Amino acid sequence: MSRSIMLAAVVAVALAAAGGVRAEESPTDMPDFPGRDETFGYCIGCHSMKVVGRQGMDRERWDTTLSWMSEKHNMPAPDGETRKLLLDYLEKAYPAAAPAQGGGFVVPFAPQR
Ligand code: HEC
Repeated sequence: MSRSIMLAAVVAVALAAAGGVRAEESPTDMPDFPGRDETFGYCIGCHSMKVVGRQGMDRERWDTTLSWMSEKHNMPAPDGETRKLLLDYLEKAYPAAAPAQGGGFVVPFAPQR
């Protein structure tokens, strides 16, 4: 099998697997910042946005994550403007300090508020 057919098969399986998830999720589940709908549209093809929301990262690490998605998981690389929009959104919605949907690392010794 050629490499591209292999890749197409893998993507098809990933999309089929995400199918059920897509029906239940919508952009309105996500924090409301500019670029939300575009980010949802870009990422939901392969996995739940919960996978994304579990992470809290700074812009640089989100940038690395986008590269990782493209290099290792065949995500179509976003063009410059789209990449900026995605990063603007991800940085605001899922920042390093406070993962929006929980599950992030919580410093056990942090003062209680
Ligand atoms: C073409 C498919 C594809 C697209 C599109 C895609 N991803 Fe992923 N992503 C994956 C796969 C596959 C995994 C599971 C990888 C793993 O755990 O090794 C994953 C996992 C992740 C994770 C979890 C990492 C972890 O440590 O649990 C994050 C965060 C992530 N993706 C972010 C994104 C964001 C943000 C977008 C949209 C801008 C996106 N992905 C779009 C394929 C994709």
